Amino acid sequence: MVGYVVYGRSSFNQLDEIIAPHRIEGKPMIFLVDHFFEDKPFLARIPIRGNDQVFSADVTHEPKTAYVDELADHLKEKFGMVSGIIGIGGGSTMDLTKAVSLMMTNPGSSADYQGWDLVKFPGVYKVGVPTLSGTGAEVSRTTVLTGPTKKLGMNSDFTPFDQIILDPELTSNAPVNQRFYTGMDCYIHCIESLTGTYLNEFSKSYGERALELCRKVFVKKDHWDDESDDQLMMASYAGGMSIAYSQVGVAHAVSYGLSYLLGIKHGIGNCIVFDKLEEFYPEGVKEFKFMVEKNKIDIPQKITRGLTDEQFNTMINVSLGMKPLWENALGKDWEKIMTKEKLRTLFEKL
Ligand SMILES: NC(=O)c1ccc[n+]([C@@H]2O[C@H](COP(=O)([O-])OP(=O)(O)OC[C@H]3O[C@@H](n4cnc5c(N)ncnc54)[C@H](O)[C@@H]3O)[C@@H](O)[C@H]2O)c1
Ligand SMILES: [Fe+2]
Repeated sequence: MVGYVVYGRSSFNQLDEIIAPHRIEGKPMIFLVDHFFEDKPFLARIPIRGNDQVFSADVTHEPKTAYVDELADHLKEKFGMVSGIIGIGGGSTMDLTKAVSLMMTNPGSSADYQGWDLVKFPGVYKVGVPTLSGTGAEVSRTTVLTGPTKKLGMNSDFTPFDQIILDPELTSNAPVNQRFYTGMDCYIHCIESLTGTYLNEFSKSYGERALELCRKVFVKKDHWDDESDDQLMMASYAGGMSIAYSQVGVAHAVSYGLSYLLGIKHGIGNCIVFDKLEEFYPEGVKEFKFMVEKNKIDIPQKITRGLTDEQFNTMINVSLGMKPLWENALGKDWEKIMTKEKLRTLFEKL
């Protein structure tokens, strides 16, 4: 779990004070900031001291193992070691920060650690400051990376942040569509966790609370205000805690295949898939469609039209590789239920 959590409007102002005890003489703090903030006044609020450095995190594409290795190698070459890494941004920046921190102390390439419990050593001190709410990446024990052969996280006890700062003010300027797609990541986490076979009281307690907050924001309310940002940030936290002790399900397994082949981003990819999952999550999909309409969001259609057999097979193989997700969704006999043919039909609907 995350070591320390600070929540509240303007809590970002405490960053300087929070990281001060973790500064090591002569070693910089590295601020990895989502490129959205590159030319924004927000940059002036970053508490730079001594030889600290601000790096822009290029999140045009979701994090790749090659990019993680490049950042970590650059930092090692330039500074030897750093005091810590502070990630400020959406889920992609959260994941990049966690992965770079781990690769400062673990040998080889981040691709070597894609899987479960492969990471050998704790990373350097790492802090997460989310600026989008929904992924739960701020609390999870994984960092999702696309590598040479797979899209899979570095799932380990060393992966969670040492500290997170949850300041809902930082999410206030997110574009409406992006906010919805990332928010739906949380909603879908809840549905997949609460209907899954891995469910337990821990996951249920957090999942139900997160779902209730998502509904307040996207179902009940008819405008967006500060309270919506506050609630969605806590929904993301609770949703992340829920899957920490269970798993996601069909939407994520299928969306990973889409993202691997077509580079479709996580939030929107989940929405494209979930829209077609009535068979597995009838109530959730019904409510999802209501939220899409109410919030006037477009969900892209027919994105797999015209793909070749080989391309379909690539997506199917990536997707079926996510065994724990399928087992959570469909039970131990999932392979008998979700055959390659059935999955092909599902991909063709997207
Ligand atoms: N580690 C985990 O447990 C976990 C869980 C779910 C998703 N993820 C990962 O999270 C990523 C998706 O994250 P995301 O949905 O937060 O999107 P993102 O981080 O990819 O960002 C999407 C876009 O929003 C911009 N952005 C970020 N903050 C903004 C702000 N405040 N205002 C305006 N624009 C802003 C970014 O620059 C980017 O263009 C994927 O890479 C996915 O794999 C990780
Ligand atoms: Fe997700």
